[in-house]
Amino acid sequence: MREIRELVRPRPPRLGRSAVLDRCHDVDDLRAAARRRLPRAVFDYVDGGADEEIALAANRDAFRRVRFSPRVLRDVSAPDLATHLFGTQIRAPLGLAPTGYTRMIHPGAEPAVARAATARGLPYALSTVATTALEDVAATGHTNLWFQLYVLKDRALTHALVGRAETAGFQVLEVALDTAVAGHRTRDVRNGLTIPPRLALSTLLDIGTRPGYWTSVLRGAPLTLANLQTARAPGQSGTVAVLNDLFDPAVTWDDIAELRARWPGALVLKGPLAPADVRRAVEVGADGVHLSNHGGRQLDRCVSPLHLLRPAREAAGDRLALVLDSGVRHGADIAAALALGADLCMIGRPYLYGAAVAGQAGVERAIDLLVTQLRRTLQLLGVTDLTELRKLGPELVTLPPPTGSHRPAEQEGGHV
Ligand code: FNR
Repeated sequence: MREIRELVRPRPPRLGRSAVLDRCHDVDDLRAAARRRLPRAVFDYVDGGADEEIALAANRDAFRRVRFSPRVLRDVSAPDLATHLFGTQIRAPLGLAPTGYTRMIHPGAEPAVARAATARGLPYALSTVATTALEDVAATGHTNLWFQLYVLKDRALTHALVGRAETAGFQVLEVALDTAVAGHRTRDVRNGLTIPPRLALSTLLDIGTRPGYWTSVLRGAPLTLANLQTARAPGQSGTVAVLNDLFDPAVTWDDIAELRARWPGALVLKGPLAPADVRRAVEVGADGVHLSNHGGRQLDRCVSPLHLLRPAREAAGDRLALVLDSGVRHGADIAAALALGADLCMIGRPYLYGAAVAGQAGVERAIDLLVTQLRRTLQLLGVTDLTELRKLGPELVTLPPPTGSHRPAEQEGGHV
């Protein structure tokens, strides 16, 4: 009787943002909640991809086509998710990828994301186009910060950024190689997205339906590219494409060699690296490659990084760490990527959806969902730790070749 009374005992209801998070049981739920919270143009900035969004859809397709063949009777009562990367212990093989303009998504901005990463023991890569100065993010005390560098036309400014990241105590420098020019984000162009969002008539109408977003953003600090204050930037606002004009399409391997000479810590190259480029990465002295198609936001129709993993591992052997992102939405995706040769997965949109809903708590919710799913997947696969997952990988995971079929992005999660 006591048990039944306990079950039906009324509990104080959780209110507001926490209640919304409680109702999010996977990343799709977080995405839907973010969509309700954010003005359309801001949601589309986070959610959208380049051109026809073929790469965006293909990233999910690749993971969805993975099939598992589990082992049984292997005592999976306490799976160990911990791992080491670049000399640092990480609580689970997951990191937060660099994303720009976070303050537009939540006023807590990059420090809120860094605090969530600290709380969960995971690395966080801060973008060059962050809306918080890298020193202020380092001041949160997170001890596994990566700095993502865009090589700018202004090389003196580029090298100054690298020096500042070193002084501030960032552990890893990762250079984005997939941004010779800005991708064409069709939704942003259609929405006329400006940074900060301008108070056009459509924005004013949006305020009526999304008062929570607008009151928090209008009360928060102004949106600036905090790391580029001294840039010969075209002001601190404009369309995303105008701001991307800072980036240099003339970057070559010589620039990477120069960065290698300047940066004493681990150096990671981020982009959709084919095996020939993975071999160049080894030659130039990189410590890792981050296989990524920018979440389908740059070159549309770009191969999904999941399909680059095995060739990259064959090209690099054990000489490079392999990080993978683009399309990770479930812990089972992380298990599959590790079984196919990755050392770490990263997420972009999933933690931004969480941030949009509830700042730091929302980012933590996104991480917790993925880590819980990963733990359960390992247990059901009959695997007790990540070393075993990698060792048994080829036996446990089948990845069919890409189909080339195009499932429109609209069908992802049933939204848009
Ligand atoms: C990004 N990404 C990105 N990458 C980068 O190197 N520098 C950056 O400033 C940004 N900015 C950015 C903004 C937004 C809104 C998104 C969604 C993504 C790409 C990011 O690091 C990562 O590669 C992808 O987000 C991974 O794909 P998923 O997890 O979003 O599918």
